Amino acid sequence: MLLINTGYYMALILGIETSCDETGIALYDSQKGIMAHALYSQIALHNQYGGVVPELASRDHVKKIIPLINQCALDANIKLKDIDAIAYTTGPGLNGALLIGASVANGLAFSLNKPVIPIHHLEGHLLSPFLCEDKPSMPFIALLVSGGHSQLIAVKQVGEYTILGDTLDDAAGEAFDKTAKMLNLPYPGGKYIALLAQNGIEEFKLPRPMLHSNDLQFSFSGLKTAVATLIHKLGGVETLTQQTKCNIAKSIEESITDVLVKKSVAALKTTGIYQLVVSGGVSANLQLRHKLGQIPEIKVYYPPLDLCTDNGAMIALAGSMRYHLAKFDYNFSVTPRYPLELIV
Ligand code: KG4
Ligand code: ZN
Repeated sequence: MLLINTGYYMALILGIETSCDETGIALYDSQKGIMAHALYSQIALHNQYGGVVPELASRDHVKKIIPLINQCALDANIKLKDIDAIAYTTGPGLNGALLIGASVANGLAFSLNKPVIPIHHLEGHLLSPFLCEDKPSMPFIALLVSGGHSQLIAVKQVGEYTILGDTLDDAAGEAFDKTAKMLNLPYPGGKYIALLAQNGIEEFKLPRPMLHSNDLQFSFSGLKTAVATLIHKLGGVETLTQQTKCNIAKSIEESITDVLVKKSVAALKTTGIYQLVVSGGVSANLQLRHKLGQIPEIKVYYPPLDLCTDNGAMIALAGSMRYHLAKFDYNFSVTPRYPLELIV
């Protein structure tokens, strides 16, 4: 293994992400960056059910995973035998969906005589800003906001994570998704709320859950109830004008982003670390980025906009940062429930 100037080993990693409803494949070279990246989103498939159907997700991963791996190899102009290791998401996520990625990763690695690197999905998100030119240095504080998580994490180095704050109920992305559903918007609703909010004003002052709780915990289920009550009072979703929908969306976005910003700043002040990484699907929210950008004393890092939601590039990148742990011990088991603190 050859050490390069970033402090990591030189390696070409195939990354496989199948934890939920996206089949994400990528080839990442620790010196050259992303060599190829392919993503198949199952959103249209699940949209008709208003959320992810696990069995359908697994079946669709089976169909897409091999063609996407072949497409990446073709795009990067490499042969699969040229890769150094295969990194894949081992959890948390949907059991059946994870198993597809783990089986293909281990089977392919065995056939090529290459090692595997199991990756924690949230570590993929946490490290994803390293896919940008402007990379953070460690230690940093991470605000990890996705469909299933709202966490503030102190990141000392790869694998050394301390959870400073967590959600007591709904995650930030979940709050966007559930309130979007009340407005009859497609799933997942975060980006549709953000789109409507662009044409809205904050007409309704919605609660900022746990804003003054003096800790770093989150809770968004009260917001969901407040939005349901508001829509009911206004006569039901069918009676709302487009402008009122935009105003409700703006009010939702302001409430969620205010809480995320205030808690992040509190985490930075408490720890005295003034570098913030924001990752996970909700980090694509431009209003959140705008508000954090207004705070002069902090430096904020994000993943590239198209790599905020689930993708294979973040898994391949995490694999390259963990290449020294690559092993020839093929193991098909996955960890659907996998707290970040259990990472080794
Ligand atoms: O990280 P991710 O792809 O999947 C999980 O690991 O959960 O995050 C998906 C979440 C969804 O809740 C989606 O609504 C939210 O990210 N999201 C957004 C935006 N784009 C995606 N939320 C707010 N604003 C956006 N622009
Ligand atoms: Zn995710």
